[in-house]
Amino acid sequence: MKGIERLSFYTSRYYIDLKTLAAARGIDPDKYLVGLGQEKMSVAPPDEDVVTLAATSAKQALEGINREDIGMLLVATESGIDQSKALGIWVHHLLGLPKNARVVELKQACYAGCAGLQLGLSYLETHPNKKVLVIATDIARYGLNSPGEPTQGCAAASFILSTSAKLVAFEKEHGIFTSHVMDFWRPNYSETAFVDGKFSTKIYLEALEECWNSYKEASNRTFADHAKFCYHLPFVRMALKAHERLAKLAEGEFDIAQVSDSFTYSRSVGNSYTASLFIGLASLLETSQEDLANKRIGFFSYGSGCVAEFFSGCVLPGYKAHLKADLHAQILHDRQALSLAEYEEFFNFRLPEDGSTFFCSPYNTKAFRLRGIDKHERLYEPTCC
Ligand code: HMG
Repeated sequence: MKGIERLSFYTSRYYIDLKTLAAARGIDPDKYLVGLGQEKMSVAPPDEDVVTLAATSAKQALEGINREDIGMLLVATESGIDQSKALGIWVHHLLGLPKNARVVELKQACYAGCAGLQLGLSYLETHPNKKVLVIATDIARYGLNSPGEPTQGCAAASFILSTSAKLVAFEKEHGIFTSHVMDFWRPNYSETAFVDGKFSTKIYLEALEECWNSYKEASNRTFADHAKFCYHLPFVRMALKAHERLAKLAEGEFDIAQVSDSFTYSRSVGNSYTASLFIGLASLLETSQEDLANKRIGFFSYGSGCVAEFFSGCVLPGYKAHLKADLHAQILHDRQALSLAEYEEFFNFRLPEDGSTFFCSPYNTKAFRLRGIDKHERLYEPTCC
C-alpha cells in the first residue's frame, strides 16, 4: 500500500497571540480571530530557520525508521537559503542520511509539498523497497503592518512515503490546474512576499473549481464519497470558504465536521506555506474523536502563481498507533508567548551579508540550531536536549 508511513511536524517555540498583534495595530481582534479564523502565529527566533525546522521535524518522523532505507529526500520550500545548494543537503548531513540518497529542493510556492508527495509516490513505483522522506518547510513573511502580517507563521512537516503505508494510502486520480497569475510572489531581492491579497483568495477558489472538475471526471467520485477534506491553509477562514464553495459546486451537503479537525493546529501556527496542507492532515488524524479508518479524505493543494491539485487518499486501519499526537500537542503547548517588541525584534533580525563571522545568541530551539555564519557559510549544531 503506497502512502504515508510516518508524519510529524515542528514549529518554532515562540508565538505571538493575534490579540496582542491586533491591539498593537489598532485592529478589532475579531478581524483576526473571526474574519481570518486565526488565534496565534509562530515566530522563528534568530537561531531557528528553514533548515533547523526541517531537520527537527524530519528527526521526529524518522523515529523507528531504518535510515538506510531512505532512497530520496525531497525538500519543498519557498524560503530557501541558497540559490544553488539544495536545503536538503544540510538536513541530510545533520541527520546522517545514506550517501546514496538522491536529494533535491522543490519550488512552486505552497504547492511544492504536494509536488514532493506525488514525485515520491512515482519513485516508489520503480523502487518499492525504498522509502522517500519529504519535508515541507517555510517561514511566511509579509512585513510589519501589512495586511498579510496576521497570516504569517512558520513550521516544517515531514513524512515518510513507502509501500508499507500506515497512515494514508493515496489514490491515483487527481485534478491539476496551472495558470500564470501574479497573486503572490517574492523576487530574489525581497525578504518579504508581494501579494495581491483579495486577488489571491479569488484565484484560490477558482483553482479549486478547476481542480475538482477534472478530479471528478478522472475518478467519477462525488462530494459524498469523501468523509473529510484537507485544504491548503493560509488562514482557516480561507479553507472554510473553499469548502463552502466546493459543497455548492459539487452539490454536496456542507458539514463543518468535514473540515474542522484539520484546522486545529494551523489556527495557532499560522501559514506555513508548503507545510500547511500536511499539518492540516496531522491535525485531522490526531484531533478527530472519530475513527477515521477506511474513510476517504479529499486534499486540495494551492500554490500561488499558480499550480493547484485536488487528490484523495484513504485512512488505513490501525493508523492511530503510528500518530505523534502527544509530541505535537506538547510542541504547541510549550511555546512561549512574545511581546510585540520581541516579535518585531525577531522579525527584523538579519544575518550579516558581508562574509563576516557572527554567532547567534542561543534561543529556545529543539533538536538543532543555527550557530551562526562564517565567510557566507551557515553553521548548524545539534542542541543539548
Ligand atoms: P484584509 O484586506 O486586511 O482583510 O486582508 P479583509 O478586510 O478582507 O478582512 C478579512 C475578513 O475579516 C473579511 O471577511 C472581513 O469581513 C472580516 P470576508 O469578507 O472575507 O468574509 N472582518 C471581520 N470579521 C469579524 N469582526 C471584525 C471584522 N473586520 C473584518 N471586526 C487578506 C485579508 C487575506 C487579503 C490578507 O491577510 C492577505 O493579503 N494575506 C496574505 C495572502 C493570502 O493569505 N491569500 C490566501 C490565498 S493565496 C494562498 O493561499 C497562497 C499562499 O499561501 C502563498 C503560497 O502559495 O506560497 C498565500
